[in-house]
Formats: sequence, structure tokens, C-alpha cells
Amino acid sequence: MVANRAKLKLAVLISGRGSNLQSLIDACDDADYPVEIVTVVSNVPGVQGLDKAEAAGIETTVIDHTAFDGREAFENALHDAISASGAEFVCLAGFMRMLTGGFVGKWRDRMINIHPSLLPDYKGLHVHERVVEAGEKFSGCTVHFVVPDLDSGPIIVQAKVPVEPGDDADTLAARVLDEEHKILPEAVRLIAEDRVSVDGDRVIIT
Ligand code: GAR
Repeated sequence: MVANRAKLKLAVLISGRGSNLQSLIDACDDADYPVEIVTVVSNVPGVQGLDKAEAAGIETTVIDHTAFDGREAFENALHDAISASGAEFVCLAGFMRMLTGGFVGKWRDRMINIHPSLLPDYKGLHVHERVVEAGEKFSGCTVHFVVPDLDSGPIIVQAKVPVEPGDDADTLAARVLDEEHKILPEAVRLIAEDRVSVDGDRVIIT
């Protein structure tokens, strides 16, 4: 972080367990980590990730997509909640709702996602089942900028893991998750340090 630069104000969006959120919370325990999580927003009520945020003293909001009449109304409420928190940047950390181009455009180059595969391979859902089924030797995880096309934006950081003989989706998911918990805080740090720029469909890290 540049000396005296204020910490990056981050909104984290979740839908469930929140282990990636926890990895960011843990990173923020280090006074030198250049990020402050200003809000955690879940589209699903009652999930474990909300408990993790509350335990860390972070403001939480639930914006239950089922309570809205259509995607636009949901996304407007989401945008309003993020903006009201003062967040400058958004991290999708296990946020399992597709976002439209309208919402994505408002946070262009200011929103990242973590996905449990080596993108551009295995976009979408049920990644680990498909990787094991296909007999892949390697899998991994990716942090990327969010663009309107699902799991398709410029890639910031990836980590690769072996697929071991006898793996099932659960054992592979656990191995990949360990790496997610490293690369997500690392990617957010690079962004907060102003070391990440987007050039077309590529990311440049300086
Ligand atoms: C993580 O494996 C994340 O990569 C994945 O959901 C899990 C959330 O776990 N995200 C996606 O599949 C998004 N397409 P967490 O709630 O414990 O962080």
C-alpha cells in the first residue's frame, strides 16, 4: 500500500458458507492489509457467512432475491446497499446469483469473483463433479473481473491443484478451497495496492 493511502473499502457479496469471506476477514486482521470490509451482503437469509461477518463486527445486509419482482428490482436494491456502505470495490465470494449487464456495468472494473476452476475451463455450476467425471489431472481456482458473460472476465490470479486418484467432488473441492483462501486475499491486496489494471481482456499486474 502506498504510505498513508486510505484502506480500500470493500463490499463482499455472499450466498452461503462464507469461507472465502472468512479468508478476507482473517487477512484484514493484519493491520498492514490495505483493505477494510465495509459491508457483507447476502442474497440468502440465515446463511453461515452472515454469522461470520457479524462475529467480525462487520455490517450485514440481506437482500433476498425471492422478495423482488424481477432481476432489475433486486439488482437496484443490491446496488443501493453497496453504495450506501461507501464501498469502492465489490468482491463476489460464493455469490451464486447471476448478474445482468446493467448491474455489472455500474461496477465495471470494480468487481471481482472467485470461481473454483481454472477458467476459461469449467464455467458455471457443479464444477468439481464435472472435472472428476472428465478425468482431468489438474483443476484449480480463478479470481477474475466480472463482465456480463458468466465466469468470463479478465483473470487476475489462478492457482492449480492436482486431481488425485480416488478424488470425488468433495475431496477435490476441499483441495481447491484451500487455494481459494490464499488467492482471493492476495488478489484483493494487489487491487488495493493499485497494482492491477485491465487492458482489454487482460490484466496487467505491476
Ligand atoms: C467457493 O468454492 C467459490 O469458489 C464458489 O462457491 C464456493 C463458496 O464457498 N463460487 C462459485 O461457484 C461461483 N460461480 P464459500 O461460501 O465457503 O466461500
